[in-house]
Amino acid sequence: MTAEGGLPGSPDAGAGAGGPAYRLVAIHGDGVGPDVVGAAKRVLAVAGARFGFDIAWTDVVAGGAAIDAYGVALRDEDLAACAASDAILLGAVGGPQWDDPKATVRPEQALFAMRGGLGLFANLRPVSVHPALVPASPLRPELLDGVDMLIVRELTGGLYFGARTEATGAPGARAASDTLPYTEGEVARVARLAFDLARGRRRRLTSVDKANVLATSRLWRTVVHEIAAEYPDVALDDRLVDACAMQLVRAPASFDVLVTENLFGDILSDEASVLAGSLGMLPSASVGTRRTAHGLHGLYEPIHGSAPDIAGRDLANPIGTIVSAAMLLRWSLGRTDAADAVEAAVSGALDAGFRTADLWPRDPALAEACTRVGTVGMADAIVARIGETGGITGAAA
Ligand code: IPM
Ligand code: MG
Repeated sequence: MTAEGGLPGSPDAGAGAGGPAYRLVAIHGDGVGPDVVGAAKRVLAVAGARFGFDIAWTDVVAGGAAIDAYGVALRDEDLAACAASDAILLGAVGGPQWDDPKATVRPEQALFAMRGGLGLFANLRPVSVHPALVPASPLRPELLDGVDMLIVRELTGGLYFGARTEATGAPGARAASDTLPYTEGEVARVARLAFDLARGRRRRLTSVDKANVLATSRLWRTVVHEIAAEYPDVALDDRLVDACAMQLVRAPASFDVLVTENLFGDILSDEASVLAGSLGMLPSASVGTRRTAHGLHGLYEPIHGSAPDIAGRDLANPIGTIVSAAMLLRWSLGRTDAADAVEAAVSGALDAGFRTADLWPRDPALAEACTRVGTVGMADAIVARIGETGGITGAAA
């Protein structure tokens, strides 16, 4: 699994011997959320036992489940509980029963409340390809060689938070609008984070915009280039978002760190997930600059949605959530030891041939060497390998 690069000033360990207790919020959410968060909690418990720490969980109800229970996607007191935690682990929110376009209360509002309310302005989405999953990607294997990128998506500005007007007017004359505002400060803080992250990796940063059309993209480009002067050791280039979308599937190994505005990052990261073989593989971390006693405060979640059609059926791939939990260990708790062990265990389970349905090889000859597992079976295979190796490549048992 990919090392995302270090954040400046991250502490390297928790409170040390004596068994610190970290305070985490779990948001199971909707659809497959409870399946995958359940799996990740098991992995964290085993990692804690192996590396000598405890986790005190607070369960928060958010998304569609909260709309059903309380009439809102996230209550103020639950946002306060998230703020008081060391970090938050979230499954997924949403589902068809809350999809009415006329509804004023929607599950996704829980995400926006946390992103905005907790100051989580950067969303980090690492994309790498496990060698055993190359056949699971529709791209030719030679294109996947060396793919290891980190998408840094601005998360609290742009179209998601700009003023909008819902459709008004009579049928035939209805109109609606969304606006895409950015301030210099919003661009600068996410750009600095991306430059810092590039310094911990291959020192290449691609800034993605649509500067040939959008005023906000021209501001974006100007500010990113001004900040580049502070990072002479990082090579910066610009890509227009349409060209970038093409390059992501034509030469994906050419990228190191990408930084881009909110909606572009949303779209490009789903596109990039195809490289990893399945949307179910990819983790994410949403962070700002606030630190707790242990590390950066943050929200960790897989990039996939709630997949209601397979919810509760032991079918969902838990790896995206488990690797998100590894990011949580690394960045919010400073537990590099446990994070490395979880990532190695995931690698080991894949090397040993364990596959959920989304990863199942189409080629029967490859399938013969694999073992079909559900959510629980994949978690079992990972849990069994925690602490087995100290390295990052992992070894099949
Ligand atoms: C994501 C998701 C969300 C987003 C949705 C569920 C609102 O697609 O985290 O990428 O668009 O930000
Ligand atoms: Mg998305």
